[in-house]
Amino acid sequence: MRGLTDKVAVVTGGGSGIGRAIALRLAEEGMRVGILDLNAQGATETAEAIRGSKGSAHLEVCDISDYEKVERAVAGFEEHLGPIHTLVNNAGWDMPSPFLKTTSDFWQKVVAINYMGPIHVTHATVKLMAKRNTGRVIFIASDAGRVGSSGEVVYSGCKGATIAFSKALAREVARNNVLLNCVCPGPTNTPAMDTFVGGGEQGQKIRDALVRSVPLGRIGEPADYPGLVAFLASDDASFITGQTISVSGGLTMHG
Ligand SMILES: NC(=O)c1ccc[n+]([C@@H]2O[C@H](COP(=O)([O-])OP(=O)(O)OC[C@H]3O[C@@H](n4cnc5c(N)ncnc54)[C@H](O)[C@@H]3O)[C@@H](O)[C@H]2O)c1
Repeated sequence: MRGLTDKVAVVTGGGSGIGRAIALRLAEEGMRVGILDLNAQGATETAEAIRGSKGSAHLEVCDISDYEKVERAVAGFEEHLGPIHTLVNNAGWDMPSPFLKTTSDFWQKVVAINYMGPIHVTHATVKLMAKRNTGRVIFIASDAGRVGSSGEVVYSGCKGATIAFSKALAREVARNNVLLNCVCPGPTNTPAMDTFVGGGEQGQKIRDALVRSVPLGRIGEPADYPGLVAFLASDDASFITGQTISVSGGLTMHG
């Protein structure tokens, strides 16, 4: 990809699943990669894998639902790696359950991580990008935010809100040459998916049903997303902002 070498990318949730695959790919493209994750062990494994391939990585253990900690983490990335060019808002969490069986404490946790979290990291980072008149923000949203997902009602709402948030901010900061876009995965083989479908015979039945619903005949793998993320961070995407792209084997098709 053009224009990525030696630039700095921060990937939230880079210690697992889709975020790890994105962090490794951006490092392979020559970017200096910051990993922000609540999970110190996962973040350390990703950072070590990058350093083992002669890349540059720095990690900050941080909960994205806490704005003050996020601000400190963003400062730490800039101190160790340099000015952040690309932010990948990937960290997310859910525990599937029918909406009518969930409680206020649960909704607040889901919103704190999946909606307030990306707002915190975006605010702390974009204010620096805007001053420098350059930056990219890529949100890993979800097809759940475009078409809804049973058992993930509040999470779906957060992802839909994230998509609208990214478009509104894309309009505000276009004059600062900060570009924001969303990537929407469909069901993907990660630890989060294992939680969603559960184990045993019932889990396998849900997996089989998901596969049948995807025109390309399989669920996603973490490696399905990093190419698009790298493109959206690259010089070739310098006229693309406020867009939402599904990467889900044709599960959802949008005009
Ligand atoms: N797996 C899927 O089927 C699927 C489908 C659509 C969208 N997504 C989205 O893709 C993204 C990555 O999901 P994944 O499947 O790789 O999940 P994952 O559980 O494998 O990884 C998520 C990472 O985010 C981190 N994280 C969670 N809460 C955090 C917090 N408060 N602060 C900092 N870090 C936190 C976790 O520690 C973990 O390392 C999420 O935003 C998810 O909503 C996943």
